[in-house]
Amino acid sequence: MVAKKENDSLIHRIVSSEVFPFCVEELEAAAKEKSSAAAFGYTRSGAGGEETLRKNLKAFEKYSIVPKLLRDVSAADTRIELFGRTYEHPFLLAPIGMMKISDDEGELAVARAAAKYNVPFIQSTVSSYSIEEVKKASGNSPKWFQLYWSNNEKISYSMVKRAEEAGYEAIVLTIDTFMFGWREEDMRNQFSPLREGFGKANYITDEVFLEELDNNDDDTVIQNILNNIYHPSLNWNHVTELKKQTNLPILLKGVLHSSDARLAIESGVDGIIVSNHGGRQLDGVIAAIDALPPVVKEVGNEVPILLDGGIRRGADVVKALALGADAVLYGRPYAYALAVAGQAGVEKVLENFIQETKVSLALAGASNMETARNIDVRKD
Ligand code: FNR
Repeated sequence: MVAKKENDSLIHRIVSSEVFPFCVEELEAAAKEKSSAAAFGYTRSGAGGEETLRKNLKAFEKYSIVPKLLRDVSAADTRIELFGRTYEHPFLLAPIGMMKISDDEGELAVARAAAKYNVPFIQSTVSSYSIEEVKKASGNSPKWFQLYWSNNEKISYSMVKRAEEAGYEAIVLTIDTFMFGWREEDMRNQFSPLREGFGKANYITDEVFLEELDNNDDDTVIQNILNNIYHPSLNWNHVTELKKQTNLPILLKGVLHSSDARLAIESGVDGIIVSNHGGRQLDGVIAAIDALPPVVKEVGNEVPILLDGGIRRGADVVKALALGADAVLYGRPYAYALAVAGQAGVEKVLENFIQETKVSLALAGASNMETARNIDVRKD
């Protein structure tokens, strides 16, 4: 581990723009130094013995890019099209809840940084600032809303409506978190940011949620959030119902099995996000990148397929696109950057990731998203 003194100066140099590019591992080390053990542990850790957390990263190394060269990539275009909209880069920011644990400005800082680089920001249900506050802070930049289903489904529909009214462009229903994973790091630290109120902003601003409370004291609010989020009966009928409630495209986040991808299409879903929640839910599940090819084979031509889990570098984006993803989600690195240097940190990490992705695609011989799909990637 890097000594504290060196790390302090690393943070200083990151903030003052002296050191770029810097690698994700350094960023993680700096975030560790800057944050409380509980907050850092919450962001870094995975469920159980963290087998899936490790696998998500390691699995990328099994895939090797075999570039085809002399392709003239001077006019490279890395824009993507999703649901009739054009986005500047082949990635979005993954929903990460309760970001006030990393920085006081939390989602406001992240949404502003994302807006600066025209990267769509997916806002979590359990964010520290409400949909309306994030919208106000970041204007008309592209935003999607991630939904955790509520036991009282009227709350779910109300939040979806609020996102729609705020101009959000898609709804991401996360299907792998109807109960929380077994997270030993948080148990060790006796840390539950949800219980501490870091994820309540969208609830305490929701009329339907407020209507069902006996009173508005903090304990009642938190208990009601927990009661709503714990929803083990979540099933395909909820997806069909949700589809009827909004005209926005609906993506399911957390699909790993090709048969679920097929059921998603049959339920009228508009897009799929292959994800294991960054190894935070069921430990021992397949690495995200390994789950991608069978899903692409099953439904790849029918709806857009996105992927998250272990995306750290430009080469990871190349591999995911080559294996059939239409875009990827970028997760933990931006949360670390937020912890290290707030909005400026997120901006820097985005700037680097954008440039590294462009360079990687070009060096792999791709000049646009169509040719990115034809990159040859071989599994060892
Ligand atoms: C998450 N993730 C997540 N997903 C979601 O749908 N809603 C949420 O509120 C959260 N919250 C959250 C908090 C933290 C601290 C992390 C690290 C992750 C999962 C996230 O969207 C994404 O699936 C993973 O982060 C992908 O893994 P990597 O690439 O970040 O390791």
